[in-house]
Amino acid sequence: MNDNLHFYKTRFESELTNFFSQNGPKYLYDPIKYFMLSGGKRLRPSIVLFLGDILKNNPDDMMNAALGVEFLHCFSLVHDDIMDEDDLRHNQETIHKKWDNASAVLSGDGLGALGPIYISKIEKNTLEILRKYNRVILEICEGQAYDMQFENQNIVSDDYILMSSKKTGVLFQLCFEIPIINNGDNSELLELFSLIGLNLGIIFQIQDDVLEIDNHQTEIGKSIFSDIKRNKKTILTSLAFEHLGENWLDFQNSISQHPHSLKRTMLIQYLKDKKVDVLARDKVDFYKNKVFENVKELPKIFQDPIKETISLIIRRKK
Ligand code: IPE
Ligand code: IPE
Ligand code: MG
Ligand code: MG
Repeated sequence: MNDNLHFYKTRFESELTNFFSQNGPKYLYDPIKYFMLSGGKRLRPSIVLFLGDILKNNPDDMMNAALGVEFLHCFSLVHDDIMDEDDLRHNQETIHKKWDNASAVLSGDGLGALGPIYISKIEKNTLEILRKYNRVILEICEGQAYDMQFENQNIVSDDYILMSSKKTGVLFQLCFEIPIINNGDNSELLELFSLIGLNLGIIFQIQDDVLEIDNHQTEIGKSIFSDIKRNKKTILTSLAFEHLGENWLDFQNSISQHPHSLKRTMLIQYLKDKKVDVLARDKVDFYKNKVFENVKELPKIFQDPIKETISLIIRRKK
């Protein structure tokens, strides 16, 4: 994380601690606190605060927006871990593993309710932001629906991009849009920021898939077997199907009875032998070029800080 984003992460986290003085049933708030204090990169709120500062927006509006997007992100993660049956997040047990599914459903609901509470505290252009925010919640659900549906289907990379745009892209897009909408009416700038955010989100999801096969569990802090266990479609499996067809299907059949860890090792070797990892990197480059083309169109004051921030997100290791 660059100094800038790190600065905003710290600012965000100091605000977040105020929230934890909240009283109420431990059944709801203990898991919420457990999750919210377990870390995370806080990328989405940092982007909001960073852009808000460049635009000289009202800092209280931007902090409420930052809280709103992070609560939504965390809500989606708590429910995603139930759906994906994942036991580890931020190097600690997921809520449904440490407590149970009922606790995780409810604390996810609580986080989901907190998001709009903070978004509606934004004072300027509130309704437009709230409408977009709610639209994004539904689109994340659509993305998660594709993700589940695709467990039982072979998909090509266009399907993968559709799923990723929805489950991950639209929230990054929103983080780029809110500061502009809050700032006032500037439709040209809004369109550019919107495209930058969406494409950056797609890159982020592609990297997430690649990191899961390139790294050890403790480095990324989450389970490295879940995609394999649940036959999740990633950028790598969708490119393998698109480019290798029958050969890929035969390979999958040949490893289907192996234990997960052997399956994972053989899968990684196959993808490297067939240079599917190179195809995935080409996809990242494709979206990276799109992002930088849009950045070039921005007014000069935005270009350097945004370029630097984007490069750091693109080069992330966890
Ligand atoms: C994880 O997002 C979910 C995806 C969209 C891939 P992050 O990697 O930003 O999650 P945390 O909050 O930093 O753990
Ligand atoms: C997470 O997708 C996207 C959302 C939570 C909306 P994944 O299931 O691919 O991400 P991780 O690997 O669990 O973080
Ligand atoms: Mg998951
Ligand atoms: Mg998932």
